[in-house]
Parts: sequence; structure tokens; C-alpha cells
Amino acid sequence: MEKIINLDEAKKLILECKNLKQLNDLRIFYLGKKSLLNQSMSKMAKLSPEERVAFGKYINTLKQDLNYLLDEQKNNLEIIELNERLQNETIDISLDGDDFSSASYGIIGGIVDEICNIGIGIGFSIAEGPEVENDHYNFEMLNLPKDHPARDMQDTFYINDNELLRSQTSPVQVRTLLSHNGEGPVKILCPGKVYRRDDDDATHSHQFMQIEGLVVDKNITMSDLKGILLLFARKMFGEKRTIRLRSSFFPFTEPSVEVDVSCYNCNGKGCNVCKNSGWIEILGAGMVHPNVLKMSGFDPKIYRGYAFGIGVERIAMLRYGIDDMRHIYSNDIRVLSQFKKER
Ligand code: DAH
Repeated sequence: MEKIINLDEAKKLILECKNLKQLNDLRIFYLGKKSLLNQSMSKMAKLSPEERVAFGKYINTLKQDLNYLLDEQKNNLEIIELNERLQNETIDISLDGDDFSSASYGIIGGIVDEICNIGIGIGFSIAEGPEVENDHYNFEMLNLPKDHPARDMQDTFYINDNELLRSQTSPVQVRTLLSHNGEGPVKILCPGKVYRRDDDDATHSHQFMQIEGLVVDKNITMSDLKGILLLFARKMFGEKRTIRLRSSFFPFTEPSVEVDVSCYNCNGKGCNVCKNSGWIEILGAGMVHPNVLKMSGFDPKIYRGYAFGIGVERIAMLRYGIDDMRHIYSNDIRVLSQFKKER
């Protein structure tokens, strides 16, 4: 019977292959569509039945032998290539690495964490609410019905008649009270972004950060509020600080106050930080209005509460002597790198 391929010669060629590409070319040469082996299959039809059996056997064995030789050489070459790669890619771990500087924490995030951690230490829990809020929670449930003139205090981004970007974190008070089904105590801090239609300048931003505080329980008085505010003021601005409350107006608190801290720069003597008054305004607060308690399912004859709202940017600016709010959002590395601190 006619030999199609000299197996010894094929073996020699296969073993001489130096890489997988060469080997693959050989595989195509011997076993591919246009190979002698494949082409000789068409001769089968012309053979007698006996010859066909013998020829079929021969072809099959030949294919098996070739495949075996090719696979074996493929394995060998793969191992050689892998070893070469491992040799070339070794990393010299004794070399010094490139120095890289770690990122710094955001100014606002730092203050939020600090205030929340003080709160958590004295029993507050953290509550959050949506930034796209309903008019109902942002205003009406806070004693600000539609057309109430005090709505002008907060120029608001409306999405439609009912939805808006929350102008304050106070709606989180309402949502939390409602979730308590009229039963205290409630003691929460609510950090979050708020939005107002203000032009950005040194002291205003269309988006800023607030932290709302709310405590509702059976025997809450204004002196509880004063105590907690003094504690926060001292933790933030130094143990020597005192505070004073000035009467003010917020629709959701009665009475309402504005809170000043004694100037940390001059200890109250008067300087340019406190505009010679000795005092610096830090937040708004008050006793929760009975209407707010009532609307959220709390009986104002049984429960009372206090609330406060902190503007985080303001605290950051005072704390670090930042004279323009826009520096806080600029992401300028020269600014940020000044606030590298362990947290
Ligand atoms: N929501 C007020 C504002 O954005 C801040 C505020 C004042 C919150 C007094 C309070 C509060 O909870 O009692 O201007």
C-alpha cells in the first residue's frame, strides 16, 4: 500500500520545531484541510472493499501518530515558553518601590465625621433621608404650609409642584418621627446635602452640607438643648468656649434661637474673626413646635423635643480660617493637602 507520509521524517520535523507558531504550521501541513492526508481520503471511493479497510486503518493510525507527536511537542514547547517567561518576568523585590502620596480626606467629610462621632458618643444615632424630597416633608410637615411667607427664607429648586431638592435636612426629622409611631425617645443626627437657589460666592453655595439634630422625649427642656450645644461647641472649638442663645425665628421651633460661641481667636475680647463682637454665630436651634410633633403623630402634651441645624461649611470655615467657601469644593490639591489628617 502506498505510504502517504514518511512518519520518521514527520517526527524529525516536529521535534525540530522551536516554537508554537512553527508547530502549528506543521499541524496544518500534515492534518489541515489541504494536507496530503486529507486529500488522499478522496481516493477511498476508488478502492476495493478490502483495500478500503486496510487504507482506512492506515489513515487512522497515521492521524493518531501525528496527533500524538504534535501534542507531545506542543506540551514541551509550552513548558519551555513558560519557563522562559518566568525567568524574564521575575521581580526584584529588593528594589525600592516608587513613593506615592496618599490621598487626603475631604474637608467637609472630616467635620461631618467629627460631629457625628461626638453625637454617637452621647447616644445619638445617625438618620438619613432622600435629597429629592416631597414638598410635604420639606415644608408642610415642618409647619410651613403652602404660601407661608417663611418659605422665602429658603429659595428652593423645585422639580415639579410636589418634588424638590431638599432645602434643609429638617425633613429627616419628620420622616424619623413618623417611623416611631408616636413613641419616644428619638435622638438622631442627620447629616446630608441640601440645595438652595443661591449664587455661589465666598459665603454661599447652591449645594452645601447640614447636620440636623433632633431629640424628642418626655421631659425635654430648653436647658437640655443648651447643655448639648455647649458640649458640641466645646468639642469643636475648645474646652474654654461658652455659648449664648439669641432669640430668633424658625417655623418648626418655638421658641427658636440662634447660637453663638465665644470667639476662639480672641477669647471674647474682640478681633477680626468675630468682627469685634467676641461672639461667632454657629447654628440655629429651638424647641420642636407642638404642631410638628402633632403632625408626625406625637402627643405634644406628653412629648417635647429640641432640634438644631448645623451648617457644616460654616463650621469648617471658622475652624480652619477658610475665607472663601469655594475653596472647599475646588478639589485643588494645594488646598486639600493642608487637611491631611488621620481619621
Ligand atoms: N433648617 C434650618 C435651615 O436650614 C436650620 C435649623 C434651624 C434646623 C433650627 C433646626 C432648627 O432643626 O431647630 O435654615
